[in-house]
Amino acid sequence: MNDKFSDEEKNGLYKAIYSRRDVRSHFTSTSIDDEVLSRILNAAHHAPSVGFSQPWNFILIKDYETRKKIKDSFETERKRSSQLVEEPRKSKYLSFKLEGILDSPINVCVTYDPSRFGPFVIGKSSIPETGIYSVCCAVQNLWLAARTEGIGVGWVSILSNDVLKEVLELPEHIVPVAYLCLGHVEEFAPRPDLETAKWLSRLELKDVVYYEKWERKQNSNWNKIHELIKANLDYA
Ligand SMILES: Cc1cc2nc3c(=O)[nH]c(=O)nc-3n(C[C@H](O)[C@H](O)[C@H](O)COP(=O)(O)O)c2cc1C
Repeated sequence: MNDKFSDEEKNGLYKAIYSRRDVRSHFTSTSIDDEVLSRILNAAHHAPSVGFSQPWNFILIKDYETRKKIKDSFETERKRSSQLVEEPRKSKYLSFKLEGILDSPINVCVTYDPSRFGPFVIGKSSIPETGIYSVCCAVQNLWLAARTEGIGVGWVSILSNDVLKEVLELPEHIVPVAYLCLGHVEEFAPRPDLETAKWLSRLELKDVVYYEKWERKQNSNWNKIHELIKANLDYA
């Protein structure tokens, strides 16, 4: 394989990154082609992982009864979490569409297996969370690959992991990491729904980049990148 990306290929990757969206509505009834789904899953499976441990599994879910039980958990958790926020944000929060569990044709639960390849995994002994981080890398690969295939993905985390474990019959040591809803969509919104709804805005890149140490926002060794970052190119 040629190890250089052409400009067109680079643009393709950036396009996927900037136009990827979390999708909860606008799913169509078109089913996902099995070849497309297998490409998306294979992209996920090629994510980096600590010590090459590949600690993920992908549970593919179509069954309505299963999805209904998970949707019920969403409703319970949404109500519970709404107690944590005061009006008027509470009503606004409750008005958002935050899942597409029954609207999307396929749900995928991505899980973490801390026991994969035994107790010693290179790189995991000092920071055990790297196992979960690896699964998140797989989710991001899946999300980007799906975007290039025109498939929307929505991550639903307003769920009880206990319910997920019971409904999906996960062994005790398996951790559900991501519950994803996949389907063709009518459109990919240009911006995050939560930005459009004026819930939160995207932070400026210059406010999240520090130089050399925590909260150092300027440094003479970093002038050029600092100026470029301040220009805050909006690719989206
Ligand atoms: C770990 C994680 C959990 C999320 N959980 C939910 C969720 O429960 N419901 C939802 O509607 N969106 C969920 N999202 C999507 C975020 O709200 C979304 O990524 C963010 O608003 C930015 O929008 P974008 O993904 O379209 O760029 C989750 C995203 C991540 C990474």
